Amino acid sequence: MKILVTGAAGSIGRVISPGLTELGHTVVGLDRVPQPDGEGGRWYTLDCTDPDAVAAVFDDQSFDAVVHLAGHPDEASLPDSLSSHVITTAALLDAMRDHDVPRFVYASSNHAVGRTPRSGLPDDLLSVDTRPRPDTFYGVGKVAAEAVMSLYADRYALDAVSCRIGSFLERPETVRHLSTWLSHDDCTRMVEAALTTPAPGFAVLYGISANTRAWWDLEPGRALGYDPQDDAEEHAGSVAPGPHDEAEAAHVGGPFAGAVFERPALDRA
Ligand SMILES: NC(=O)c1ccc[n+]([C@@H]2O[C@H](COP(=O)([O-])OP(=O)(O)OC[C@H]3O[C@@H](n4cnc5c(N)ncnc54)[C@H](O)[C@@H]3O)[C@@H](O)[C@H]2O)c1
Repeated sequence: MKILVTGAAGSIGRVISPGLTELGHTVVGLDRVPQPDGEGGRWYTLDCTDPDAVAAVFDDQSFDAVVHLAGHPDEASLPDSLSSHVITTAALLDAMRDHDVPRFVYASSNHAVGRTPRSGLPDDLLSVDTRPRPDTFYGVGKVAAEAVMSLYADRYALDAVSCRIGSFLERPETVRHLSTWLSHDDCTRMVEAALTTPAPGFAVLYGISANTRAWWDLEPGRALGYDPQDDAEEHAGSVAPGPHDEAEAAHVGGPFAGAVFERPALDRA
């Protein structure tokens, strides 16, 4: 497949771009920062919030799929979160619809459901059928981006897979990560499955490794062909307990569900 990867200069982009290339795909990178030194392949430097700049990429060449990673991976104001996650998604989906690009894979987040309390979850696992329950404006942006994907899947028969990523890291660093970790290799496996699963329509999966202490249900991902191979438990011996472990385990969004992130949605002069 020929795949446009947005946010290709970021931490996930720099792992999955070579990973997808090794699997035989052709990757074209896009980011608002220039191509990192040492990275090969075609590259576009532009901001995905600009629909004209995004459309020009699709006028320039054709693609089989888009993997959308571009976005601010942290809490921000509500307007900035909507711009970073919803406007970028909409600009790409409009261009895909206009150019008949059939598959969109999105880097959503566990923070789309992060305010869900962990107590009372059946089998301690959160399903993908749970109601959207963001823990921050970041999470609101991810929920709204998923809503745009769902709309475009229904209206235009696009396939759109949302990967609610846990903690993408080389290895787990905290006790929470033992539940939420997504290894580098499993991330490439997840994106490959989301790109190639037949006719998913709009679908959601949880982007974590096969962690013994998982908080999220991996079965919807497995049904889409995502077969994670790593388990954070293998690193448990090198993870020291911390003072915030208990608080971070109360909600699936961990620290993002805490009062420290509470603030007004809009800044006033
Ligand atoms: N890293 C994680 O653990 C994690 C967890 C859940 C979700 N995610 C999501 O995955 C995606 C990638 O995360 P990451 O960890 O690689 O982040 P990152 O900050 O390392 O990379 C994001 C990249 O996107 C680019 N970018 C941001 N806004 C852009 C825009 N408007 N137009 C063009 N480029 C833009 C940045 O320049 C950067 O290179 C994000 O959407 C993030 O919300 C990440």
